[in-house]
Amino acid sequence: MVTTATKTALTSRHIEDFKKILGERYVLIDEETLHNYSHDETEDLHFPPDVVLKPRTAEEISAILRICDQNKIPVTPRGAGTGLSGGALPHLGGVLLSTERMNSILHIDHENLQVTTEPGVITEVLQLELKEKGLFYPPDPSSRGSCFIGGNISENSGGPKAVKYGVVKDYVLNLQIVLPTGEIIWTGANVLKNATGYNLTQLIVGSEGTLGIVTKIVLKLLPFPKHDLLMLVPFRSAENACSAVAAIFRAGYVPSAMEFMERDALDFAARYIESNAVIVEDDVQAHLLIEVDGNNMDVLMQDMEGIAGIVAGFDCGEILFADNEQQKAELWKMRRRIGEAVKAHSIYKEEDTVVPRAELPVLLKGVKDIGKKHGFHSVCYGHAGDGNLHVNIIRGNLTEEQWNGSLKEGIIEIFELVKRLGGTISGEHGIGLVQKEYMNIIFDDTQMRLMKEIKKIFDPNNILNAGKIFD
Ligand code: LAC
Ligand code: ZN
Repeated sequence: MVTTATKTALTSRHIEDFKKILGERYVLIDEETLHNYSHDETEDLHFPPDVVLKPRTAEEISAILRICDQNKIPVTPRGAGTGLSGGALPHLGGVLLSTERMNSILHIDHENLQVTTEPGVITEVLQLELKEKGLFYPPDPSSRGSCFIGGNISENSGGPKAVKYGVVKDYVLNLQIVLPTGEIIWTGANVLKNATGYNLTQLIVGSEGTLGIVTKIVLKLLPFPKHDLLMLVPFRSAENACSAVAAIFRAGYVPSAMEFMERDALDFAARYIESNAVIVEDDVQAHLLIEVDGNNMDVLMQDMEGIAGIVAGFDCGEILFADNEQQKAELWKMRRRIGEAVKAHSIYKEEDTVVPRAELPVLLKGVKDIGKKHGFHSVCYGHAGDGNLHVNIIRGNLTEEQWNGSLKEGIIEIFELVKRLGGTISGEHGIGLVQKEYMNIIFDDTQMRLMKEIKKIFDPNNILNAGKIFD
């Protein structure tokens, strides 16, 4: 049995100790701060911590964790708080450890196409800095304008470009982490190949702040592609849109983005950002947003023509080819802000289903059928090329009993379908607090035992993000 740290362990003496380490300014206990750090972007959940700490260095974090470990004080690490599975929710109170002051890009290694950065750098800030030097870090979650690179590592984030370029894990070469014991280690080496022992680096990626605090990150980079082209394809049937996705890959194309949006998703987003860039005909049920990129414009034009030919076989409407940068930006803005737009419309539960790409039409139909059966409405969109469908279940008029009670049966049915189709319950948002109760749909006792044993080795006193991923 792992004993969990409890917030009652935190006393004013510890607060004084934290002040000695960080200085008064970065130890915050006022109500407003505690409220601001009580939530991330998950549903409408709030759990105020007892204290917010804002360290600047790995050494400071080490000193903090030593105190917390000795006194069994829960510690919740937090990046920018944009997470959608409750990973940064301090549900046990205790210490909220924010990495926001660790925001320097330390070294851009042009020779080796690598960058070393601290965790509190905003992902898009890093991307733009690299782009200026002709370098490309592809993973681009919709929240890239506000999320931190450290949070992306913890959740193994994806984003639209994952379909061609892979997710965060494919770019992480080496990490400096602070263990709950206060020890500071590097997990690997700054190399593209590494067959030297267990892969600690990849164990940390996606571990949601439960094993260690990431304090330095070495990422692999690519040269920035010179051109990209974008098209928006309307479909009269959402299932047809999903079926077109696998057909495009089967025909030999690898788009740099292949996004699916149900009609509602696009409508909500267009209204939310007050855009009339897209006129959606009455009979349109869904869209695919398809991008190709590379260095040779002629090749990209041919790819677009080829893809247009394929989607025509799936009863699509008139394709919108974005022919200038402003139009592209507008279409992407609409796509990236769907999550926010849905949230502005109603509280929702975000399910992050992922199946093998060709199973997407079956998944979509299943989600809708299950919704009908259980009386809930969902808005679906996501990274169709990855088989990654975000199912946003709208609270709408559901009662408290339905929302926090019977709805669960519907979610379980969706996840069981996902499993039958060879998929899993999170592609890029993580398990955190709100999905852990469904882990047993995907993993058996042996698999869960292995994960829990790993946790115990890293964090024997269970202080670090305890109760996340599993109990
Ligand atoms: C997106 C986020 C919610 O795809 O993952 O917009
Ligand atoms: Zn997404």
